[in-house]
Amino acid sequence: MLDKLGRNINYIRVSLTEKCNLRCIYCMPRDMCVEDNKDYLENEDINKVLKAASILGVKKVRFTGGEPLIVKDIEKIISETSTLANIDDIAITTNGMLLADMAKSLKRSGLKRVNVSLDTLNKDKFKFITQRGSLDRVENAINQCLSLNLELKINTVLINGINDDEVEDLIKLTKNLPITLRFIELMPIGEGEKFYKNGLITSAEIIKRYGELKPINSLDKGVAQLYKLPNSIGKVGFISPISCKFCHNCNRVRLSCKGLIKPCLHSKDEIDLKPYLNNDLGLVSVLRDSIYNKPKEHTLVSDAESMSKKLMYQIGG
Ligand code: GTP
Ligand code: 5AD
Ligand code: SF4
Repeated sequence: MLDKLGRNINYIRVSLTEKCNLRCIYCMPRDMCVEDNKDYLENEDINKVLKAASILGVKKVRFTGGEPLIVKDIEKIISETSTLANIDDIAITTNGMLLADMAKSLKRSGLKRVNVSLDTLNKDKFKFITQRGSLDRVENAINQCLSLNLELKINTVLINGINDDEVEDLIKLTKNLPITLRFIELMPIGEGEKFYKNGLITSAEIIKRYGELKPINSLDKGVAQLYKLPNSIGKVGFISPISCKFCHNCNRVRLSCKGLIKPCLHSKDEIDLKPYLNNDLGLVSVLRDSIYNKPKEHTLVSDAESMSKKLMYQIGG
């Protein structure tokens, strides 16, 4: 459906949990313990919300977290989503730690696309950035997705002085692999605030540094501006929420694991769907209102501070 500014909202991002098996330095504090939460939506409630969203014209669903693959029954959630009318694109955003073993069954359940976070190709640095992870596991997961023909994107958050020296090696991955590697500008949210002042590298800086990248047009109207190396199989994308806002053609809303609709990543607006879960018409109606009234834009650029009181792992990116 169209919001009041005429944007076509056809994409919902569903965060299934605030928990994560990693502690990326720009996201979660190392010793943070996320409680098991009793307020989370039941799987059948997620399905009700997605059904209402599909009635309103949502076609694309992405499951996020925290880490969505630690959620029990994720395959069941995906297969139930795949039976909803109109939904033709089901994706996940994951850190990849558990993906290698699960990729096959996820695909069988109806998963089409996978976005994996990968900030470095160096084992020690991987341990440092994620504070818990293993690069081998993520590399295995990537290979497994490729062999299953799952469409794959890699998300890399760049931080000056930490992984900016790897930009060239990361870009080179796209020469022979059918992937889209996307650099995300660091956002001043959560632990990201600590690194933001000295760590932000804008997309423009990278594009200037690597003159070989040429812009391309793509049917994939995502948040990234897409480029390619000459003769490469894959693509390179830049997600630039700081230097180049994409709010004017934003097509998404977010559902949190606690049943809140967030029409914009950085706005403090939240609409609680829990009171409507046993009332199909009410659910469609409240969802319609929240989509229609989606805020015009976020204020990260002007304020260097998110208006949202929620952190990245709570919103699901
Ligand atoms: P595709 O469906 O493949 O286009 O994926 P996506 O880019 O929508 O999903 P993904 O979870 O990979 O998003 C990558 C990152 O882009 C997120 O983690 C955020 O950092 C950023 N991002 C995504 N959506 C928004 C948004 O609406 N606003 C802002 N500021 N950043 C966003
Ligand atoms: N700035 C930019 N991206 C972030 N992510 C998490 N925290 C931040 C931040 N402060 C990204 C992760 C992952 C996606 C889900 O969100 O790296 O790719
Ligand atoms: Fe977990 Fe993703 Fe946050 Fe890393 S960025 S701690 S993988 S939620």
